[in-house]
Amino acid sequence: MLSGKRIILGVTGGIAAYKSAYLLREFQKAGAEIRVTMTPSATRFVGSETFSALSRNPVAVDVFSGDQPDDDWTKHIHWGEWADLFIIAPCTANTLSKIVHGGSDNMLTATVLAARCPILICPTMDGEMYESPAVSDNLKKAAQMGYHILEPETGYLASGLEAKGRLPELSEILHQADEIIEKNRAKGPLSGKKVLVTAGPTREYIDPVRFISNPSSGKMGVAMADAAVRLGGEVRLLKGPVHIKPDERMNTESFMSAADLFEKVKHHADADVIIMAAAVSDFTPAERSDQKVKKESASDTISLNKTTDILQWLGERKPGGQTLIGFAMETENLKQNAQKKLQDKNSDWICANDLGGKDAGFESDSNTIHLIGKESQKTFQGTKKQIALQILREIFQKP
Ligand code: CTP
Repeated sequence: MLSGKRIILGVTGGIAAYKSAYLLREFQKAGAEIRVTMTPSATRFVGSETFSALSRNPVAVDVFSGDQPDDDWTKHIHWGEWADLFIIAPCTANTLSKIVHGGSDNMLTATVLAARCPILICPTMDGEMYESPAVSDNLKKAAQMGYHILEPETGYLASGLEAKGRLPELSEILHQADEIIEKNRAKGPLSGKKVLVTAGPTREYIDPVRFISNPSSGKMGVAMADAAVRLGGEVRLLKGPVHIKPDERMNTESFMSAADLFEKVKHHADADVIIMAAAVSDFTPAERSDQKVKKESASDTISLNKTTDILQWLGERKPGGQTLIGFAMETENLKQNAQKKLQDKNSDWICANDLGGKDAGFESDSNTIHLIGKESQKTFQGTKKQIALQILREIFQKP
C-alpha cells in the first residue's frame, strides 16, 4: 500500500536515530519515495551521508545550508507540499517541544510548520523524560493540534533501565504510516468522486510501420492523475503510448488512436471529473494500408480526415455537476486561444500550456500553466507534479 507514497523522514538526536536507517530501508522496500531531514544533533548519532546514500537524495539539515549546488532555501516549503506523510522517528523531547511551540530553527522544524500533509511523531527518549510533566503536556498538546502520535514501547533503554521510551517495531510504524495516508486521502476534496484522466499522444497509423503523432510525453496528464489520487479521487487513467508507470491505485487502460481514445472516453463519460490532458491528433489518414507501403508505389500525398473533437463532444453532453477540464497547447496568443477553447468546448477550466517557453512543454519535467476558468485566471509554474496538485487544489479545495 505504501508503493509510490512520498514520505519525509525526520530524524532527531536520540540514540534510536540509527534505527531510522533501517526504517528508511523498510519504506523503500515497500516502494515509498523517501526524503530525509535531520536535526543538527541527529548528525552526531548517524552521519547525514548514511541517509543520503540510502535515500539517494541530499539530506536537509539547515534551511540555509548552501552546501548543495542547487540549494534552495525554500525547500522546506516544497518538501512540505511534496509529501504524503512526514514522519519524525525518533522524535526527541526537544524537537517535540519546538513543534508544539512553533519553533522553526532548523530544516526539520521549519518543514513541520510548512507541511500540508499529515505528520506522525514517534516520541523516543528515556522513561523518566517521557513521563516528565512537560513532555506529557506537550504530547497532549501535539495530539490536540492534529499531529499523530505513535506511543513508544516499553523495554530496555540506552540508560540501561527498562521503561517506556523505545522506538516501536518498524513494521508497526509502517502500518501506522499507511493507515494515516489512506485516512487522509479519504478526507480529500475528490474523495468519492470518479475522475477520468487522459494522457499522452495518439498515433494515427498510415501503415503498420508509419504513423502521425506528436511529442507528448504524457507527464502532465499522469501528474494530474497522481494528484487526483492524492486528493482522494477514484481515478481511471487512459494512457497513450508513453513509458510512465502510473500509481497502482488507479485503473489504467491504454489507447493508441484518437478513435480508440474516443471509444474509451465514451464508456466513462459520466465521471464526476474529466481531465483531457491527452494530445489528441486532429487528423487521421483517410486510408490505412494493412501492408507496409513501398515507396515505388506510394503516392506523394496523404489524404486526411478530421478526428472527433472529444473534449467538445464531452462539453456538448456535460451532465450537471460534472467538472470538465481541458488543455490547450499553443505557440501564440495563448490566453485568447485558451479562452476561445473554454467557450467553444463548453469546458469549466482550460489549462493553457505555453509551448513557446523555455523549460516547459512536451518533454520537460517543469511547466508553466495558465489555469483559465469562466471567472478567474491563475498562473502556475514549477514541476509538472507540483503544478498538477496546485491546479486541482485551486479547482476543488477552495474555501
Ligand atoms: N482534444 C480532443 N479531441 C481532439 C483534439 C483535441 O479532445 N480531436 C482536446 C485535447 O485533449 C485538449 C483540448 O482538446 O484538452 C485542446 O487541444 P489542442 O490540441 O490544444 O487544441 P485543438 O482543439 O486541437 O485546436 P487547435 O489544434 O486548432 O489549437
